[in-house]
Amino acid sequence: METATREPVYYVTTPIYYVNDVPHIGHAYTTVAADVVARYRRLRGRRVFFLTGTDEHGVKIEKTARERGLAPQELVDEVVERFRGLWKILNISNDDFIRTTEERHRRAVLALYEAVKQHGDIYLGTYEDWYCIPCETFWTEGQLVNGACPECGRPAERVKEESYFFRLSAFQERLLEHIERHPEFIRPEAKRNEILSFIREGLRDLSISRTSFSWGIAVRDDPRHVIYVWFDALINYITAAGYPDDAERFAAVWPADIHLIGKDILRFHTVFWPAFLMSAGLPLPRTVFAHGWWTVDGEKMSKSRGNVVDPAAVAAEYGVDPFRYFLLREVPFGLDGDFSREAMKNRLNSELANDLGNLFSRSVSMLKKYRGAVVPAPDRGDPRWREFAGLAAEVNDAVAAGMEELAFSRVLGEIRRLAAAGNKFIDTQAPWQLAKDEGRAADLDQVLYCSLENLRLAALHLHPFMPEKTAAMAAQLGLPELFTASGTEAYRWGGLPAGTKVTPGPALFPRIET
Ligand code: ME8
Ligand code: MG
Repeated sequence: METATREPVYYVTTPIYYVNDVPHIGHAYTTVAADVVARYRRLRGRRVFFLTGTDEHGVKIEKTARERGLAPQELVDEVVERFRGLWKILNISNDDFIRTTEERHRRAVLALYEAVKQHGDIYLGTYEDWYCIPCETFWTEGQLVNGACPECGRPAERVKEESYFFRLSAFQERLLEHIERHPEFIRPEAKRNEILSFIREGLRDLSISRTSFSWGIAVRDDPRHVIYVWFDALINYITAAGYPDDAERFAAVWPADIHLIGKDILRFHTVFWPAFLMSAGLPLPRTVFAHGWWTVDGEKMSKSRGNVVDPAAVAAEYGVDPFRYFLLREVPFGLDGDFSREAMKNRLNSELANDLGNLFSRSVSMLKKYRGAVVPAPDRGDPRWREFAGLAAEVNDAVAAGMEELAFSRVLGEIRRLAAAGNKFIDTQAPWQLAKDEGRAADLDQVLYCSLENLRLAALHLHPFMPEKTAAMAAQLGLPELFTASGTEAYRWGGLPAGTKVTPGPALFPRIET
């Protein structure tokens, strides 16, 4: 039965990726980040809706299909499986997967188009300008750089055709006002300023239909036109929330709490998308967060350079969770970063193998050796106890604050404080010495308890980032329910029950040799 006060759903999205090409680490990055957000919110007790999917229309897909001698539908049906398969490998916990070729999406696009038209924001005109197919973006002569697309540097095409236009220019003031009033709408801050100055330069009306190709959603009352792929694609976020058929679900799910995207598609999400929604009278997403760009060994990733990194191959080589960890730890979210196997090896060896992995196996095996693998009762009045309790509370607050900002790297840095304190504690307390002295049995109990409790909290905080490794930690710690007992209580120091039986297992993070 539905309760009257239904808690709103936390709604997080990734871009829907083009299926003209196979997924690479850039796609994996956004999707892993969104997965961490979704898992984090679920772990803290929220109802979550996590959406990813594929963008399957447009001239670019049509062209790729033709080159490969396939019908567009055959191409998209083939490539979509590469994305689905990769998300399975990377343990992505999406609740839905949307494809823009689905019937539910066609209905949503036509409904939104109609709503915008009813509002008087669509008119028929002639488009005469430049178009970049790889970016699916329109440009003016003045925006081109030596005749090429200012975004990707590839040649733009001259286009002249009849087109429906969206009256984007009419939304300039309302967009500025919204962005100024809602500092959280565009993040990080630098991106917000970029968009503000872009809008202040003036907005042109946007061509939203094409007649020169047919792979797309036809305009209902003028089927010579197919709807521009970006108008089509952005709507996926409301299709999957139940628009237009399921009003109750839509009210519970929309607006999105966060659209996670790369910086390449910021304008579409913070200028076009909110304007479409405003025109249709729908609420705007709360936050659009644009992360930075990955290069590989210092170079731009591209098929022609042959340096496109396959995430499935990296995960097979280094492990899924270490790869997830590296992606979010290596670069502050929002900045650009560089992927290299050297950097990955160094990071994983020092932070996972040496610090966390060693601490874990040392702690669990000492408990086995000295206390028959059973967690002893701690002394809750001891200064060492208070020190750990204080650290746990600090880390907990810092993780919560960092996750609000999506400062993943900083959050992982905070969680490392637990491992650092645990390693230092064992080194200074020297349990192997305490074990030699019967009179210091209570001290040894305290050291063992604190070491394991500290690791329980590390596993809990790391869970959204490394779901499988932390499940293995929880299993060895004898706490298989660790991640199902959501709520704030689980994060408090001292939750590990005395009497818990641990089961030492294989090393969690073996060292990576060259
Ligand atoms: O733009 N570094 O799809 P797309 C970081 N279909 N992130 C990267 C990256 C890199 N080198 N390369 C790709 C589209 N990405 C549209 C989206 S949404 C309504 C429609 C990630 O397949 C990043 O998230 O070109 C970027 O925004 C996205 O992939 C672009 O994927
Ligand atoms: Mg792209």
